[in-house]
Amino acid sequence: MGNTNLCTTVLPCLTFTTLYLAFLLLHLSNTFAINSPSPYTPVEIIILNCGSSDILTALDGRTWTGDVNLRFFLQELSQNQASLATNSLKQSSSAFSQVPYTTARLSVSPFTYIFPITSGQKFIRLYFYPAWYGNFDRSKALFSVKAGPFTLLRDFNASLTADADGDPNDTISREFCVNMEEDEGLNLTFTPSDLESFAFINGIEILSMPTNLYYTPPDNQGLTFIGQQNQYLIGNRTALETVYRINVGGSYISPTKDTGMFRRWELDVEYLIPRIYASPFNMTIELIFAEIPLYTAPQLVYRTARTMGPDKAFNKNHNLTWEFPVDSGFDYAVRLHFCEFQPELVDWHDRVFLIFIANQTAEEAADVMVWSGRRKGVPVYKDYAVSMVGKEGDREKKANLSIILQANPKDWNTSFNDAILNGIEIFKISDPSGNLAGPNPGPLPLTAPTAVPPKNLVEAKTYRATIIAVVGGGVSSFTILLILVVLIFRLAKRVNDSDNSTKVSGSTLPCSLSRCFSLPEIKLATNNFDNKFIIGTGGFGDVYKGYINGEVTPVAIDGNDEYVTDEDKYGRSCLH
Ligand SMILES: *[C@@H]1O[C@H](CO)[C@@H](O)[C@H](O)[C@H]1NC(C)=O
Ligand SMILES: *[C@@H]1O[C@H](CO)[C@@H](O)[C@H](O)[C@H]1NC(C)=O
Ligand SMILES: *[C@@H]1O[C@H](CO)[C@@H](O)[C@H](O)[C@H]1NC(C)=O
Ligand SMILES: *[C@@H]1O[C@H](CO)[C@@H](O)[C@H](O)[C@H]1NC(C)=O
Ligand SMILES: *[C@@H]1O[C@H](CO)[C@@H](O)[C@H](O)[C@H]1NC(C)=O
Ligand SMILES: *[C@@H]1O[C@H](CO)[C@@H](O)[C@H](O)[C@H]1NC(C)=O
Ligand SMILES: *[C@@H]1O[C@H](CO)[C@@H](O)[C@H](O)[C@H]1NC(C)=O
Ligand SMILES: *[C@@H]1O[C@H](CO)[C@@H](O)[C@H](O)[C@H]1NC(C)=O
Ligand SMILES: *[C@@H]1O[C@H](CO)[C@@H](O)[C@H](O)[C@H]1NC(C)=O
Repeated sequence: MGNTNLCTTVLPCLTFTTLYLAFLLLHLSNTFAINSPSPYTPVEIIILNCGSSDILTALDGRTWTGDVNLRFFLQELSQNQASLATNSLKQSSSAFSQVPYTTARLSVSPFTYIFPITSGQKFIRLYFYPAWYGNFDRSKALFSVKAGPFTLLRDFNASLTADADGDPNDTISREFCVNMEEDEGLNLTFTPSDLESFAFINGIEILSMPTNLYYTPPDNQGLTFIGQQNQYLIGNRTALETVYRINVGGSYISPTKDTGMFRRWELDVEYLIPRIYASPFNMTIELIFAEIPLYTAPQLVYRTARTMGPDKAFNKNHNLTWEFPVDSGFDYAVRLHFCEFQPELVDWHDRVFLIFIANQTAEEAADVMVWSGRRKGVPVYKDYAVSMVGKEGDREKKANLSIILQANPKDWNTSFNDAILNGIEIFKISDPSGNLAGPNPGPLPLTAPTAVPPKNLVEAKTYRATIIAVVGGGVSSFTILLILVVLIFRLAKRVNDSDNSTKVSGSTLPCSLSRCFSLPEIKLATNNFDNKFIIGTGGFGDVYKGYINGEVTPVAIDGNDEYVTDEDKYGRSCLH
């Protein structure tokens, strides 16, 4: 009811809202460079906490600047405009108390942020927390987001998306890559889908990225186009959405542990079918970035991997398979990261394997040692493009994009009939009309949590009063309506990138010093590596809570610890 009320109150004065955002370019200081030995340092970083007037530091140490107080370059607006800065109301999620999810900017009419950024390729990250805002019903958040000519989201049902993703945290973050052709700035527009709905945003992050990290350089022939004769070019007039970024066989890598671009690297376990197979690692090998730039991926990605193990007979009858649900109707770019680091592997021909992407052959004889110039510890990656454009009408469906590694089935003179993969990045490529938006998730089962108003009515009433005050002010006073904007240039404060080796040391003890468990024992103890049993993340894997020998005492089991030492490198894990 409240939402309807507000719509009628607000609509007459809300037709189009433009938030003029400007910011000072703070150039990197020497101090910053010394404190942050990241391989890449973005020239521009905007980290905007929408609906806030404060400068707040998130748990990871990064500083978010509020967009509310008018500080720089406020421009005349030609129409009556308003959007609201508001606070989220507490729900079940712990996100309630976390920057940037504590506040939002929302509106029943379109609003635009104008970021005066320079030309070049940029990451745009959007953060959403579909909560109750005042008496704005979370299930009424339905909107589109455009960045310049690109449609990033269309009729985006934020609450449905958050409830359907299986993550207990109700927050949503999306990462896009766009290229700015001219120095004319970036307009980011949020448009509610209909008169019943509203648009909102909690946080916006924009940062420059290394040129042609994901786009095809001018002198390059492009990506291998799976199943096609021609190569595939990712040109400057396309936009990308990161759909998966995976540290295969390894741990979660948080944005502050990335190479300076604040990307997030997730686990592969959820996508691996079945969830067994070895995950070797080598925390001591000296990586040599001879083939690719140092900023390509964190070193941890190349120090951990997934393989099939040493059993040739087993390997010939099994495939290493990952399945990634994606929106059909788009082309996808797939980047596979590789690095050989196992002592038993000596030279080329030792490990030769086949790669299939979306059921089609991508490589008939992949040999990482050949790609890395016959040197171990030399990271490489391979780029592929694949079309998931199926039949007419498939546009609204999900499909699985599979990545399959098959040990060489022939009896080559290879020492290992095995395969290896260290990292996966999958990007959705915008269609010719500049669209990246897919369908919303299907309706939830009836048992799923439904949107309920916050129980704390006192709190809710307070916020409602606040919002109505803002709206009322807007009706009578044009100036107050220009809730605008700031700008920001925030050099992200990096958290001390503490050396992983310290955390890892406990797990590198030989098995003889600790109790060893077979993989089946560990799977039993952790309910087959059920995510519910994760109690923390170690240097190269999640730490699971397990119950051993029926005892009640929880113990820590490193889920990726199967190849721990030479004495026990195949399929067994150590418990310390
Ligand atoms: C794309 O744009 C970048 C800078 O924005 C430029 O360096 C690069 O050469 C362009 N690529 C092509 C293929 O024109
Ligand atoms: C959005 O999803 C919610 C479920 O979270 C549903 O109740 C609502 O009807 C959906 N809105 C639209 C416009 O489809
Ligand atoms: C949910 O949020 C809490 C609080 O920040 C965080 O510790 C936890 O890792 C998050 N869980 C997931 C699955 O993202
Ligand atoms: C952004 O929006 C403003 C105001 O609507 C417009 O003047 C400007 O041309 C737009 N810029 C771009 C790059 O679209
Ligand atoms: C790591 O790689 C180095 C160099 O190849 C090798 O000497 C060492 O034994 C490896 N360590 C492990 C645990 O595999
Ligand atoms: C492995 O995958 C390939 C390609 O999809 C398939 O031809 C082969 O039959 C699979 N092998 C097994 C054992 O599933
Ligand atoms: C790949 O093969 C599997 C099993 O045969 C099938 O279910 C799936 O639809 C195929 N995927 C594509 C993209 O063709
Ligand atoms: C994708 O694969 C998973 C696991 O095999 C399966 O549960 C799901 O139904 C598949 N989705 C589609 C659209 O085929
Ligand atoms: C066997 O290995 C050698 C190098 O060790 C290579 O020259 C030869 O081509 C390989 N034979 C086959 C059939 O792959």
